[in-house]
Amino acid sequence: MADIDALLAELTRAEKLSLVRGTADPEGTATGYLPGVPRLDIPPLRLVDGPLGIRAEGERATAFPATLATAATFDSALAREQGAAMAREARAHDQDALLAPGVNLVRVPHCGRNFEYLSEDPVLASALSRALVEGIESQDVIATVKHFVANNQETHRTTVSADVDERALRELYLPPFRAAVEAGAGSVMTAYNRVNGTHMSDHGRLVGDVLKDEWGFAGYVVSDWYGLETTVGAATAGLDVEMPGVSAGPDDSEGVEWPDGIPDASRAGLFGDPLADAIDDGSVSADRLDDMVARVLGQMARIGLLDGRDRPGELDSERHRDLARDIAARGTVLLDNDGTLPLSDDADVALVGPHVHEAKLGGGGSSETTPFRSVSPVDGLTARSEGTVTSARGIPEIESVSLFDLLPFVDGGRGDESGPDEDPSLDDAVAAAEAADVAVVCARDATTEARDRDSLALPGRQDELIEAVAAANDRTVVVLRTGGPVETPWRDDVAAVVEQWYPGQADGAALADVLYGDRDPGGRLPVTFAPEGTYPTADERRFPGIDDIARYDEGVFVGYRHFDAGEDEPTYPFGHGESYTTFEYGDAAVVSDATVEVTVENVGDRPGREVVQAYVRPPATDGVERPEREFAGAQSVVLDSGESRAVTLDLDGLAWSRYDDGWTVDGGRYTVEVGRSVVDVRTTVGIDC
Ligand code: BGC
Repeated sequence: MADIDALLAELTRAEKLSLVRGTADPEGTATGYLPGVPRLDIPPLRLVDGPLGIRAEGERATAFPATLATAATFDSALAREQGAAMAREARAHDQDALLAPGVNLVRVPHCGRNFEYLSEDPVLASALSRALVEGIESQDVIATVKHFVANNQETHRTTVSADVDERALRELYLPPFRAAVEAGAGSVMTAYNRVNGTHMSDHGRLVGDVLKDEWGFAGYVVSDWYGLETTVGAATAGLDVEMPGVSAGPDDSEGVEWPDGIPDASRAGLFGDPLADAIDDGSVSADRLDDMVARVLGQMARIGLLDGRDRPGELDSERHRDLARDIAARGTVLLDNDGTLPLSDDADVALVGPHVHEAKLGGGGSSETTPFRSVSPVDGLTARSEGTVTSARGIPEIESVSLFDLLPFVDGGRGDESGPDEDPSLDDAVAAAEAADVAVVCARDATTEARDRDSLALPGRQDELIEAVAAANDRTVVVLRTGGPVETPWRDDVAAVVEQWYPGQADGAALADVLYGDRDPGGRLPVTFAPEGTYPTADERRFPGIDDIARYDEGVFVGYRHFDAGEDEPTYPFGHGESYTTFEYGDAAVVSDATVEVTVENVGDRPGREVVQAYVRPPATDGVERPEREFAGAQSVVLDSGESRAVTLDLDGLAWSRYDDGWTVDGGRYTVEVGRSVVDVRTTVGIDC
């Protein structure tokens, strides 16, 4: 391993400064680039977006499903494999650091980036954050966990302050980052927003004290792109690398209007001359610069970059394609089913929707990927069906949105491919549905980085299309392709509802896997679906905030914790997901302090996958409001018809404890609830603490 101290002794100050400020990649593929020091055989460091696959400029890569779909698998092993596959693809593109995973908690259902994130629950998000990081780092690629912290909305993301108390930070928003650090993430990206008034790039308490001192993070902290607020504030807070370091604005950016959510891309170079000046005038110490450089070199050494190690990768391999399909299918959630699903092989299907000819790869923004191949719903169902598959668009396309369309100085967007140009007719869609055994309607939302959704309703005329098709065929299946919860006003009028999130390149193939029952739908909801007005963030003080302050005064009552505490009923609760078979649970038993065991039997006549979930209900504690119960862990199990198995559940310590100037586990009797969702409890067992 390279001797970092010896390298530091050799480096000139100008060379050190060049190692903490990004510049343009001469090859043009990297999202961020540090030039290296050829004189000392220090190679460049290339950073590339994530997190749904690799976004090397002008290059192709496997388009994995949305991170939220990965989360819906509730399966850390699968997430670990995805991390490793993305890292192998990064290496194939000669990239060294992946700007992934995104682990901000889903606080606001409207957030335009929820599809890049993991869950509304910190235990689930932490388990998957840990697994993704382990996977990425296992291939000697630097994982960059982002966006630290409380970047839970896109509206005013560059100016808003998240006004959040310490308990909510510790119990909800920080744990997925801590899990990533413990799993060995080499880098942490700061968020654009402020927390309690201080910009995250300048946040000495959270970056310096909590992340670095308390958690012992030894890697480098990188700014979000054009996300540095000040030179001295950032350097002294603990920020190590400015990205991208060079302006992407027009030469003369005077007068350019930067739309809400888009950082001022002409602001760059704060770690260039201004940092040198700050060291000269003593406001930043020379030791701090050495520390920044040592952290960067330390990570480069750790992944073998300083040894000239051969670092081959793997791109678009069969196992990566299979994995993308596997995650897409496993993350698909069957929300409702009256028995219409699974489809029989020879059913005649009318496939309806404005985008049935395209795979839904992801949402807009820095996570957009360009795959080598993709399967549309029409292609996927046609390949699988032994009956006829007719398609009808029904209504005009849904306008796609992308951060790249919002940039003030870039021409043209990267919207979805457009489909056939005939004018879609609702009547044709209804006629196709009437003539078929089953109608499958694909509906989508349109989300992007830099914008939040202004409504949870499906955009365009999709609700009308679903109602019209459902009236024509009582075996109508709705397939949602959304970046988070949506309103489903027609759900009682349709036979089945499936949530596919953004399924990525394998879209139609994975959809066929689930609709025809080649796989049991293994997905469960990582976010609560509820009527728009009932979420805790329905109050504008909380979201999007007033005068650039978003008050997180719902505290720890986010997601299902909010619905558990109040009168409002979710439409589909956290953890929910139907199966094509039926499972019975035996009595849960305590194996040790933090482990319970339960026997689960498949009593239906098909094989199936069950996601066995555990929630911890704390004892009453005087004067402290606690969530009614907290998700503590899950285990998925595949069972043949008639098979039963003992399932062991490890209960995460976070679900037991609460933060009050330090972590506390209140004494008393805790009830562990084991079941199929947060509300579908099948067996309970008590544990005394
Ligand atoms: C996003 C980051 C991304 C970076 C580089 C920013 O706009 O917030 O998630 O990694 O751009 O593309």
